[in-house]
Amino acid sequence: MLGARNTPNSTERADAHSASELYVEQGLTMNSTVHLHSRQQVGTVDSRVFGGFLEHMGRAVYEGVYEPGCRHADEHGCRTDVLAALKRLDMTAMRYPGGNFASGYHWIDGIGPKNKRPTVRELAWQSIESNQFGTDEYIALCRRMGWTPMLTVNLGTGTPEEARNWVEYCNCPGGTRYADMRIANGSREPHAVKLWCLGNEMDGKWQLGHVPADQYAIRAQQAAKMMKDTDRAIEVVACGSCSTGIPTYMEWDRQVLEHLGDMADYVSLHRYVGNQANDTADYLAVSNGIDRQIEEMDAVCRFVQARRKSKKRAYLCFDEWNVWYKNMQMDGAGKEAPHLIEEAYNLEDALVVAGFLHSFVRHADCVKIANLAQIVNVIAPILTRCDDMLIQSIFYPFEMFARRRQGTALRVAVDGPHYEGKTNGRVAFVDASAILNKRKLQVFVTHRGLDRAMDLTVDLANASIGEIESAEIVAGNDPKVANSYENPSAVCAREFGELTVQNGKVKCQLPPLSFVAITLTLE
Ligand code: AHR
Repeated sequence: MLGARNTPNSTERADAHSASELYVEQGLTMNSTVHLHSRQQVGTVDSRVFGGFLEHMGRAVYEGVYEPGCRHADEHGCRTDVLAALKRLDMTAMRYPGGNFASGYHWIDGIGPKNKRPTVRELAWQSIESNQFGTDEYIALCRRMGWTPMLTVNLGTGTPEEARNWVEYCNCPGGTRYADMRIANGSREPHAVKLWCLGNEMDGKWQLGHVPADQYAIRAQQAAKMMKDTDRAIEVVACGSCSTGIPTYMEWDRQVLEHLGDMADYVSLHRYVGNQANDTADYLAVSNGIDRQIEEMDAVCRFVQARRKSKKRAYLCFDEWNVWYKNMQMDGAGKEAPHLIEEAYNLEDALVVAGFLHSFVRHADCVKIANLAQIVNVIAPILTRCDDMLIQSIFYPFEMFARRRQGTALRVAVDGPHYEGKTNGRVAFVDASAILNKRKLQVFVTHRGLDRAMDLTVDLANASIGEIESAEIVAGNDPKVANSYENPSAVCAREFGELTVQNGKVKCQLPPLSFVAITLTLE
């Protein structure tokens, strides 16, 4: 149990602390209060918001989760070191097999005896795909990891019927062709895959089989109907706009949702952000844009629902999100498991990842699924190099949230100083979200200040905070500091002992460029 001001137990925190003390002496600290009320609730946080994404791209599958020749491989050929690290993230919905890869993938190539599976030329990433990992290996991995399977069907070069056959393979009891194939491949019990994405980024010209919105809508409706006729229990995710910058943004979504009608359970959103302008303050303000994207997409869903006078509300599935801008190597040059988009993440990226998660929690009423893109090697929190593995900075905010995700999101009002981001507009220095689970309150706070500490108060208006159960912090003086194989703990979560409870409120001082997650118990 933490409560009193503990002695810092790490060099990093000691440095950050002394930097903030300097500002106190000079009168340069700022003050902010996070105001909460236990009855001001947004909605239950859907655990699937803490999902991931495993694509057959680069070294995500091969040399990522699956590497039979590796010293760490288990009896299934999966890397135990990688899986142990992923276990810490406690991910929920795991989207597979793509991504752009899905739009050229024929699922039937990835089942059956491994020596009979075809090696194919893969066009999305110009790679060679051996199909040694496919549906049954993925499902077995989901079961071992506690992940909820989430499959993307091929609506690029594939047909609605091929998609429907995959549902039969996965979900139907024996007695018919594709279900019997699954049984022959060793799985008597159905895989029971509930979540299915109707293609990937079909609005993007780079997508195999890209078509205008009206044509995609027809394809998606046909596929959804046949898939749901095969298994009434499934839920489908329609392809929404792949970015806010695409010319068809919103209009694509309106057309697709109108045509799919009550068939659409969710619509997808994607977002990759970066600090191309090397302006940390503006970059950290990007959560403004994420909030706006969610609210705009929800507005389309509500608009279409109202126009159709339907009781059915389509919810949001943010099935690709992350920081991605430094490594744009996307051409596999005809290789198997090429090194593609192996982004190196630093402290400011970790704070932006926390910003995405704040936004999802704050919109718990409409964001029901979200998938960090991706999980290993490809724009990922984990990197591998032969038998070695490295945990990147963005791993920590995800882990800190995931451990505290259960409960109901509360509305958050931050009272404190603001600044003006060049492109992302005016934001409070403090970005926050909160989850209440009975007598337990989880508070997440990012301090975006670059060089001034922040005196923070957490005030739950209608209750007193009793004890501080645990708190962790990710912080540093340099936004560009990143982990490396030589220095693997340059950015990581550390215990944060700088909190006190005074008159039922939590007080602490946050160093600049920091993210904290705090678990509190109410009196
Ligand atoms: O995650 C990498 C790629 O980004 C995905 O394959 C695609 O959907 C998106 O453009």
